[in-house]
Amino acid sequence: MGFLYRKLVRRLLFGFNPELAHNAAIRSAGVLQSFKLANLITELLSKAKDFPVSVAGLKFKNPVGLAAGFDKDCEVPKFLSRLGFGFLELGTVTLRPQNGNPKPRLFRISEKKALINRMGFNNAGAYQAARSLERLLPLDIPVGINIGKNADCSLALAPKNYLEALKILYPYGDYFAVNISSPNTLQLRELHQKEKLESLLDPMLDFASGQKIKKPFFIKISPDLEASELESAVSTAVSRGFGLIASNTTTRRDGLPQRWQNHEGGLSGALLKKLADQILKKTAMLAAGRVPIIGVGGVCDGPSAIKKLRLGADLVQVYSGLIYEGPFLVKEILEYMDKIGYRGGAR
Ligand SMILES: Cc1cc2nc3c(=O)[nH]c(=O)nc-3n(C[C@H](O)[C@H](O)[C@H](O)COP(=O)(O)O)c2cc1C
Repeated sequence: MGFLYRKLVRRLLFGFNPELAHNAAIRSAGVLQSFKLANLITELLSKAKDFPVSVAGLKFKNPVGLAAGFDKDCEVPKFLSRLGFGFLELGTVTLRPQNGNPKPRLFRISEKKALINRMGFNNAGAYQAARSLERLLPLDIPVGINIGKNADCSLALAPKNYLEALKILYPYGDYFAVNISSPNTLQLRELHQKEKLESLLDPMLDFASGQKIKKPFFIKISPDLEASELESAVSTAVSRGFGLIASNTTTRRDGLPQRWQNHEGGLSGALLKKLADQILKKTAMLAAGRVPIIGVGGVCDGPSAIKKLRLGADLVQVYSGLIYEGPFLVKEILEYMDKIGYRGGAR
């Protein structure tokens, strides 16, 4: 099936502007998920062996999840859950709706199987996401919700902005990812700094500790951090029991053809893989098993997923790989895991 995607569907989709193709895919998924038969067929086609794993108190049927940014408005989790994923991360959702950056803002570098995006958290806001999830949940796999900051909110007001979004979305997520690492929201990455990060996380923890059901939290970090910045972010996360997601897109341009060098935005896909693996390895060493870790960046097949698990990730996520390899990528990864006799771990 992956072969068919690469030979036929990809050619068709790549004839369109990337954002248009993405929106068309989301709309089609929205239609499909309302038909039982379509859900059933998708599930049958995506079926693969389970690799059960327990992470952060949640049970996953396999460790391969969808990365944030694909379903920003939480519109199609039901369809996505039929593609074999072990979990989904939806969003980034911000408290208030916002348009994001001017278009065009998503670019394919097909010859390198990479993407550049400067979407800027275009989304319909937390209330709209909650309404959608109210209708579409529960699913039979865990759902994470990734939360970010509104572009017009200052860093000083960021803690309140994140907290308000969290309060609206708390009933719907099985875990929450605090996104401090998108390169497309001005100053967002400054939230990695110790004091700023503490002031961001502590109110969320306070809120969560007052809730009946305790849910795990993760911080999604940048791959562009200096060693000392990474150490500080990991130690702040560990001290508060937050897991880590390594990593978001990079502003580095290593390996990018000359004509793309000056395109602003975050680079993902195959060109991010080496850097994302390095940051994952360092993160795992610093965290030393005290909190769970999700590895993301450049996963495009079985070996690249396994590498992240061996570097210390408890779970992995994919985004750009889905664009280049298609919706049966998860099945292909799981088949590879089966072929090499992979035995998942549990924490
Ligand atoms: C078009 C696009 C939009 C994205 N939007 C988000 C987002 O809203 N929030 C987020 O945390 N990450 C976002 N990401 C980053 C991905 O979740 C992921 O961390 C990154 O792309 C690296 O993984 P990949 O190489 O498998 O794509 C986005 C990535 C792409 C390509």
